[in-house]
Amino acid sequence: MIGTLQLVAFIAIQQPSLGVTGLRVEYLANPMGIDVAKPRLSWRITSADRNTVQAAYQIQVTREGKGIWDSGRTAGDASVFVGYGGPALESRTRYVWRVRVWDGKGRVSGWNSGWWETGLLAPSDWSASWIGPAASPNDSLPAPAPMLRRGFRVNGAIDQARIYATSLGVYELHLNGQRVGDQLFTPGWTSYGKRLQYQTYDVTSLLRAGENAIGAVLGDGWYRGNLGFDGKRNVYGKRLALRLQLEIRYRDGKVERVVSDAQWKTATGPILLSDIYGGETYDARRERAGWAGAGYDDRDWTPVVALDPPSSQLLAPQSPPVRRVRELRPIAIRRAASGETIFDLGQNFTGWARLKVRGPAGTTVTLRFAEVLDRDGNLYTENLRRASQTDRYTLKGGGDEVYEPHFTFHGFRYVGVNGLPGAADTATITGIALSSNLAQTGTFETSDSLLNRLQQNIVWGQRSNFLDVPTDCPQRDERLGWTGDAQVFASTAAFNMDVSGFFAKWLGDAAADQHEGGSVPWVIPNVLGGDSVNGAGTAGWSDAAVVVPWTMYVAYGDRGLLERQYPSMRAWVEYERRQAGPDLLWQPGWQFGDWLALHSDDPSYPGATTLTDFIATAHLAHSADLVARAARALGKASDAALYEKLFQDVRAAFNREFVSAGGRVGENTQTAYALAIGFDLLPDSLVAAASERLAAAVRNRGMHLTTGFLGTPQLLPVLSRTNHFDVAYGLLMQRTYPSWLYPITRGATTMWERWDGIRPDSSFQDVGMNSFNHYAFGAVGAWMYRTIGGIELDPDTPGAKRVRIAPRPGGGLTRARTSLETPYGTLASSWRLEPQRFALDVTVPVNTTADVVLRNSTVAEIREGGRALRGLAGIRDVRQDGADVVVTVGSGQYAFTTANNPE
Ligand code: BGC
Repeated sequence: MIGTLQLVAFIAIQQPSLGVTGLRVEYLANPMGIDVAKPRLSWRITSADRNTVQAAYQIQVTREGKGIWDSGRTAGDASVFVGYGGPALESRTRYVWRVRVWDGKGRVSGWNSGWWETGLLAPSDWSASWIGPAASPNDSLPAPAPMLRRGFRVNGAIDQARIYATSLGVYELHLNGQRVGDQLFTPGWTSYGKRLQYQTYDVTSLLRAGENAIGAVLGDGWYRGNLGFDGKRNVYGKRLALRLQLEIRYRDGKVERVVSDAQWKTATGPILLSDIYGGETYDARRERAGWAGAGYDDRDWTPVVALDPPSSQLLAPQSPPVRRVRELRPIAIRRAASGETIFDLGQNFTGWARLKVRGPAGTTVTLRFAEVLDRDGNLYTENLRRASQTDRYTLKGGGDEVYEPHFTFHGFRYVGVNGLPGAADTATITGIALSSNLAQTGTFETSDSLLNRLQQNIVWGQRSNFLDVPTDCPQRDERLGWTGDAQVFASTAAFNMDVSGFFAKWLGDAAADQHEGGSVPWVIPNVLGGDSVNGAGTAGWSDAAVVVPWTMYVAYGDRGLLERQYPSMRAWVEYERRQAGPDLLWQPGWQFGDWLALHSDDPSYPGATTLTDFIATAHLAHSADLVARAARALGKASDAALYEKLFQDVRAAFNREFVSAGGRVGENTQTAYALAIGFDLLPDSLVAAASERLAAAVRNRGMHLTTGFLGTPQLLPVLSRTNHFDVAYGLLMQRTYPSWLYPITRGATTMWERWDGIRPDSSFQDVGMNSFNHYAFGAVGAWMYRTIGGIELDPDTPGAKRVRIAPRPGGGLTRARTSLETPYGTLASSWRLEPQRFALDVTVPVNTTADVVLRNSTVAEIREGGRALRGLAGIRDVRQDGADVVVTVGSGQYAFTTANNPE
């Protein structure tokens, strides 16, 4: 018999020091209802030892316990986006997969397993009809939300049950009185005319033997509600409809389907009005108790009618759904002069308020929402333009009532409540933040509290505006997928959160909405009229079609997405080339230009306007460069040569037209230098001179920026790349207008649309365009991760397979701690400036390599874990590179110190 001690020792030895975790299929863990023909599988590896590299993997896939594919022991280090290679997948089927890995020392991990389940892969899998209320002359007007229901029987023991559902409009499902799932705004927003998502739900546990009932509520949503700033509604159609298929598989193998068909009935209920911009009106007295349960009497409901099926392709989601992601408690409650009770939730965000109230039936409580207060302490709602974002709740009486709206969302920090029957307290209002449920991947924290707040504001801006589509803002009558905003922010977004599936979905719509001639609309999904419909692409906006797929490729190594988007990328560059004509100088018509830059009509900042032909030609060059790189990455050699030549030709034209022999660029604006250097448009010989001019342009303005949407993201990267770290940090740490920190000194909790949404004299900017929740200027976040944190991704080894860690302290910071969940695992960089030394802790995921740069140092003075470098585990190479030392390390945790200050 073995003793306890021996047993403990035995278990310790058995603990696998090599493990597999974080299994993913395409963009999700254990996805329910996917439609990819050959899903790509990813995993992460854990190892107790440093310098671990995967030497081989083995994947096995089973279906109902039977093996259908075994990759066998496959040599190599591929662990991200590894293609399934088994037989063709079938609809409505669960596939279980497991994976194990070997490392270079011959160790083998245990198996780890996950699954995916297919949705309905072929149109013929759908037997459900499209159903909805009968046509009415009022279909184009705001109307109560229709409810649809039917009862059905379950006859026997159930093995499993699934619902496949979609709608025209947004839907909410109920089964036997329970809400199905926690997803919001399903089926999500896509280019409905072409692409429409459906969701798959496991409802096995919601069914019961005997009588059951299913119900759906439909909301106007993006489909037929108010949409766009020109007062339109019914953009996609006038009639709401549901398509639903409940498939029950009994233990005996029999399958029964309850589908949307003529047996359903419809009625209206408590939701009298629900509009994304306008808010919701809800009369609880009109609730139909038990409507989605068995035994409900629906004799006064009317039969549904069948609708013509839309021509759009039905798709399974790639992105995580919208969910409730945070709850916020009021930090203050005040009574305004108007009598309104104002709840301050302490944070600007997107979502709605949960109202808890008790009072007599028929009392109506009105909730208004605003991002800021005016000088008198009242809600400031002028900047909402036509979006009234007001909820109205009428009590049914008889106890505590808790209400949350359904098919609307608001951008706000303050809730103004009128008509409360009793006293207000902190339980009356709870803020519910809604967002696409994206995993946080980045952390960033320094010794400076304002900078930390800036990071939080950027993240809140992203959380608020990544609501199924990357939107410009969440509050006024816009909330659209503005391409320019998404393009400039994409790389920051990919540091903060896992946006791989989110952007894969949106790029599908970008390609679908692209005009035949290659032009890309201003917003995706395209709901705007005018030039955007006529196909006039604009520089820096339409370029999203190129920049975003490339950014996703660099961040996640998603070659499949790059391949899928490649025709769209190329078509956009061809459009730009044609617009430019033979001289390759694009002199466009209407353009957004360096949107919201400080203008030359502002006397304190003359000359900040960068002309649109300059901006457009620079973007043509940049997109040609990126398409050339994409072609190279995809092995398309002749395209790579073609677009490399186009890049060089446009570059030459750009230099002839806009660059002087002394390195003066364009109109001498900060944006002109930022774009010219950032896009590699200048000859090497002029970069230094041009960057001096840029630095001077910043210093001459007392260390302030003048850039807009397009110049801002390039500004700090260009300054640091040209060794003007003092100027870059000077701008970042600047507290007076215009700067990133100025809004924070005015209490901002999200990124503002304009540098001076609230002016230094406390007045508001132009009401016509003054959002306090626009992420574009938050594009500086990528620089913060890359330069302060030092985490630099390499396009040649995408997905963080090999990275550089080169933090560059400055700005008076004494420490910074940054981490990034990469496809391979956690990458982290944390540094401290101590009195006599610089300390840098680094974490490198298994199966990757990092080049750690210790500035101003020599090999001899560097220590890791207190010891000299040579011969230490995990250190693959050490070399002096000018004044710096580059230490190449494999996976593991390292604690470096040097005697010198790297600043
Ligand atoms: C939006 C933007 C957008 C811009 C186009 C604005 O109304 O809010 O952020 O990019 O229009 O210039």
